[in-house]
Amino acid sequence: MEKVSMMINARKLFKDISDLPTIPAIVSRVVTMLDNSESNPDEIADLMLSDQVLAARVIRVVNSPLYRTTNRITSVKRALLFIGFKSVREMILTSYFVDAFGQKDQPFDMKMFWMHSFTVGAISRRIARMVDYNDIEKAYLVGILHDIGKVFLGHYCKEEYGQMLDSIRNTSYTTFEAEYEFFHTTHCEVGLCLAQRWNFPSAYCDVISYHHTSEMATEDPLLTSIVSLADFYCLSHEAADSVAQASIPGRSEENAWKVFKQLAKESLPSSLEHFLSDLDEEHESINNEVNILFNTMTE
Ligand SMILES: [Fe+2]
Ligand SMILES: [Fe+2]
Repeated sequence: MEKVSMMINARKLFKDISDLPTIPAIVSRVVTMLDNSESNPDEIADLMLSDQVLAARVIRVVNSPLYRTTNRITSVKRALLFIGFKSVREMILTSYFVDAFGQKDQPFDMKMFWMHSFTVGAISRRIARMVDYNDIEKAYLVGILHDIGKVFLGHYCKEEYGQMLDSIRNTSYTTFEAEYEFFHTTHCEVGLCLAQRWNFPSAYCDVISYHHTSEMATEDPLLTSIVSLADFYCLSHEAADSVAQASIPGRSEENAWKVFKQLAKESLPSSLEHFLSDLDEEHESINNEVNILFNTMTE
């Protein structure tokens, strides 16, 4: 089916929904200010302090083993200066999404969903470094958000999505293929609708829309390729009965590898296979990082 008709079907699903989560104004304002390197840390800290939950969470993450601080950091301003604007931006957005969707009733295990999302974020960050991508935090954040459409489908089409998951348990079908059969659209198009509603930057929209078909990405093909391969790596290491299943490298992954070869500035291993096996060395540190992050975000 054409992408256009899949988008039309995705939009239909949104038509009658009135309780769609929105991004709180404070979060958009803080994130916009953090994006501007000229912003004054005092002003941002003041804005963040007006939301106690946001401020407390940032301080908790900064003091977690993720950042190995020698002295406890107790002020938002010091947290901002210590870990940098971009890291705080990614932390705020992540915590917002976990809050907004974390409690939603789902036909799948939300803990597994977030663990997958955080792991794809962490792997995307490593791949971004390996291929010398210019915004490593962006790769991390969009890695976390790539499957956001699944949360929408799982929550607003709960019964049907549950039936769909049951129908592919212990088969080699992926959720991506099954969604297409059941809904004539997938979490990619649904995720794109959400991303557009929330005014995400166009590169984020592209990744969410094309992480299973990276060859169609136009906005930032390198970023989409990074997340596509991170997702593939993660799926091929996850248990077969999880929300998503492993598969052999397909067109999207082969294309991602081609894009790395063309656009990446660093010298790369000789084959996709070697590239993926280089990631194995990072496996344990990625798992550690994801566990700490998950526990801190959901405390
Ligand atoms: Fe996906
Ligand atoms: Fe995924």
